Amino acid sequence: MTPISYEALRELHQRARIAKPFLKWAGGKQPFLAKYADRFPPLNGRYIEPFMGSASVFFFLKRLERRPFLALLADKNLQLVRTFLEVRDGPQNVLERLEHLKSGYFEAADKVKFYSYVREQFNNSLPKADAASFIFLNRTCWNGLYRVNRAGKFNVPHGAPKGSVMFPSEADILNAAASLAHAEVRAMTWQNTIAAAEPGDFIFADPPYYSDCMLDDTKYSREQFTAQSHHELARRLAASAQRGVDFLLTNSAEPEILELYSKLHFDLEIVSVPRFISSKVDRRLSVAEVIVRPPGSGGPRQLLLTDELAEVVASLDDESDASVVDV
Ligand SMILES: C[S@@+](CC[C@H](N)C(=O)[O-])C[C@H]1O[C@@H](n2cnc3c(N)ncnc32)[C@H](O)[C@@H]1O
Repeated sequence: MTPISYEALRELHQRARIAKPFLKWAGGKQPFLAKYADRFPPLNGRYIEPFMGSASVFFFLKRLERRPFLALLADKNLQLVRTFLEVRDGPQNVLERLEHLKSGYFEAADKVKFYSYVREQFNNSLPKADAASFIFLNRTCWNGLYRVNRAGKFNVPHGAPKGSVMFPSEADILNAAASLAHAEVRAMTWQNTIAAAEPGDFIFADPPYYSDCMLDDTKYSREQFTAQSHHELARRLAASAQRGVDFLLTNSAEPEILELYSKLHFDLEIVSVPRFISSKVDRRLSVAEVIVRPPGSGGPRQLLLTDELAEVVASLDDESDASVVDV
């Protein structure tokens, strides 16, 4: 292992204290955190996310916790995971290439054509597409969606952004790299990620919304997260809780989800979360989400009144939330 100087360590720590998600992601948890951050318990063991997406909760906890903690972040989206790994291990390379794509985009007379060109290059280089292209497409495509066709090719159209396109800055990428420095990031099925949890670990499970599971199966990836998957997830979380693993799950507060988790005697709390609605006139709505915790895990963490949490929450910017509902 290469020795690391005290200064370098200090910089890593300082950057991790201000890191935020560098991707927009469908179902991103920023709006949830702005209201319900106190529902997350203090960490004792590893922090584990089987459905990491943009890992907004991980970045948030890294800002909040005063000490480093071990983390396992996983998702089945291989390109997403590769992007996180490249950002973690080679942020300068990612920045150089992103700069190149950004200037190409800003200078292009025909932005849709430039976007289509990058998307084609990205698809041609799969499964070894580069992180900068992933980030570029994420920021310029329609609502930050990651959707692939049956052949596994990314097929989201250009987003025709109304304002200026905001790419993550150099500081955003370097801060994210610092935050991820000691995190294990893996392309894994959620079943394997949950099985890796040990007593004392904490799992944050944010699967696709139950309300989405009846919809188009291409929203997140090629395989659908079905009603049966939700049942299996509940069973596996119950089994982990029995082994001493703590967890917090969020989902849409559909009657089926409420019934499923009530039957297992978990603690349920229904909350209202702002969601961006994309329509002819973009607007915000609230959706009901349920927070599920093991029985007797206690109420909200007594944190909301501290300056520390208030400061971190105030700095959240919900721009990285790409949760959209078409109406
Ligand atoms: C609601 S998003 C998570 C959003 C995340 N909490 C955030 O703040 O950005 C759900 C994630 O689950 C992933 N996913 C869907 N099915 C999966 C599966 N079977 N195994 C692992 N991950 C899966 C998707 O790729 C997506 O990134």
